[in-house]
Amino acid sequence: MSSADRFRVLLPQQEVLSRIGEMAAHIVRDDPDEPPMLVAVVEGARTFAARLRCFLPGCPIVHEVKASSYGTGTVSSGEVSIGSGSDLRVSGCRVLLIEDIVDTGRTIEALRRRFLGAGARSCRVATLLTKPSRRVVDVPIDYVGFSIPDEFVIGFGMDHAGHYRELPDIVVYEPEAAAESAAG
Ligand code: PRP
Repeated sequence: MSSADRFRVLLPQQEVLSRIGEMAAHIVRDDPDEPPMLVAVVEGARTFAARLRCFLPGCPIVHEVKASSYGTGTVSSGEVSIGSGSDLRVSGCRVLLIEDIVDTGRTIEALRRRFLGAGARSCRVATLLTKPSRRVVDVPIDYVGFSIPDEFVIGFGMDHAGHYRELPDIVVYEPEAAAESAAG
């Protein structure tokens, strides 16, 4: 983190909150009689999940699952390891997986497979952001907040090396080195 890091607001908080309200309305409309079991993919989706839950009657709890992709440096190996929350009791439940961002699609695909394998009746996906140009796995996404270009975003729960999750807006982040080379 440095004072020369650059930030550009991509989605102001007000726009994000309003879109979350619309997504919740779609979720309720699709299944008015049976509130889903909410499962947030942490850490990044915690803020989004908390806001979404407020609009969903009959969903008092947000469960959490942790997933990580392992690889060297910034390159993912494509292997997703599921940590705490992998043993949630989902048998017979209609699960709604809540993500902050779907990039390659590997994380959400691995979680869907895990929960459907554990007997979930269905496993739908709500993501605040998607980067379609980065997709490697053709995983179905049921509810999408915003489709964005391939830029590194932080804020509204999303981090860079553990920083910036508390920023209210969704912001494009350009670290010092990249900002300098872009400026020539
Ligand atoms: C991000 C995000 C998704 C995953 C998406 O998590 O929250 O879980 O990456 O990537 P994919 O579609 O390519 O699988 P991250 O690894 O940044 O962890 P964090 O949420 O704990 O910060």
